Amino acid sequence: MNKPTRVNHPPPVPVPADNHPVVAPIYQTVKFEFESVEETVRNLRGERPGFHYMRASNPTTRQLELTLASLQDRDDCLATASGVNVIAQTLLGLTKQGDHVLCFIESYGPTRQIIRRLLGRFGVTHTMLSIEDLAGIEQALSTTSTRLVVFESPTNPVTKIADIAAITRLARRHGAQTVMDNTFAGFHQHGEYEIDYFLHSLTKYASGAGDVMGGAVIARAALLRTLRTEFSVLGGVLDPHAAFLIQRGLRTYFVRYREQSACALAIAQRLAAHPAVARVHYPGLASHPQHELARRQMREFGTIVSFDLRGGAEAGRRFTEALGLFAKAASLGSTESLVMAPQMLKPRDLTAEQLAVSAVTEGTVRLSIGLEDPKDLLEDIGRGLAAAEA
Ligand SMILES: Cc1ncc(COP(=O)(O)O)c(C=O)c1O
Repeated sequence: MNKPTRVNHPPPVPVPADNHPVVAPIYQTVKFEFESVEETVRNLRGERPGFHYMRASNPTTRQLELTLASLQDRDDCLATASGVNVIAQTLLGLTKQGDHVLCFIESYGPTRQIIRRLLGRFGVTHTMLSIEDLAGIEQALSTTSTRLVVFESPTNPVTKIADIAAITRLARRHGAQTVMDNTFAGFHQHGEYEIDYFLHSLTKYASGAGDVMGGAVIARAALLRTLRTEFSVLGGVLDPHAAFLIQRGLRTYFVRYREQSACALAIAQRLAAHPAVARVHYPGLASHPQHELARRQMREFGTIVSFDLRGGAEAGRRFTEALGLFAKAASLGSTESLVMAPQMLKPRDLTAEQLAVSAVTEGTVRLSIGLEDPKDLLEDIGRGLAAAEA
């Protein structure tokens, strides 16, 4: 074999069948081959297991999908390139012209945009309500034939809690499927509810390191069968190297979620006791208006703490800029703490009336609590609050 050929056909290094890597290797390959054309064709027809092309599946990505499915108490999962990508592909894959979708003012902004702008262009209509408006949900479902109910809990950024049992019951009664973005609550919560499709941004708690993006839809295998076909032509595939990093991040997921949630509660309590703060939004606080519902649905309350400063947007800016340990950045769920000032948070697509329902005020600040020493974070928050009051 000449050298230009050798570099394209490197020597194989077979690993003996009784010799296993402790950490699964990264299958950084787009293509897989079988030894015969016949086996290739059988695989393409779904008559035998194996891999063919990365856009359809890859062993590294598949391992991550199966791990995530088991964490969320379902039996299948499709991983994609980002959280927003999985929201878009799932909603596109599940709807057709003439369908109606029920969605919520308090949802993640890009989800609202996908429903309004993208699905709207293809003749999918929607009704947008407050996640707290159960009577409105019942009314909408009983008067308009609805394909999907798309919601989150806790919501971003003010951590309102959706009554999941009530919403899934109403959806089922009226023949709608439920799609829940469960990114905030994590993979270990809400699995016992009759949610049809769970969506997650893997960019957040799964990876934990804030250095990689990913998304996932998790559901019963029968529900994902059609979506798998749609996803393979929409093409927002997760790269195996990213899948490997996310799988590695999951090793510490439970410890991180627990520690970061405990620190978030301590910070929420400190904020609630401070005169510069008008209101704290954290479902783990007894003062949260839906604390009892949160306790019924969740075992841990997450790492997002939002609060309203009495001094409004300017106080929010001073608070944010006085912090030394919180990066002024979007995202959440990684090990470093983050802050979003009111100027960074304000939804731009809502009417004044919808903005009032969203409960995001001129002085709302959002914190994402990381894995630093809680004492250091509390001290930093103290500096921020002093600046907010100045
Ligand atoms: C609730 C929620 N869903 C989805 C996303 C989007 O995830 P990604 O940034 O991975 O696209 C975010 C991002 O902040 C989010 O907060």
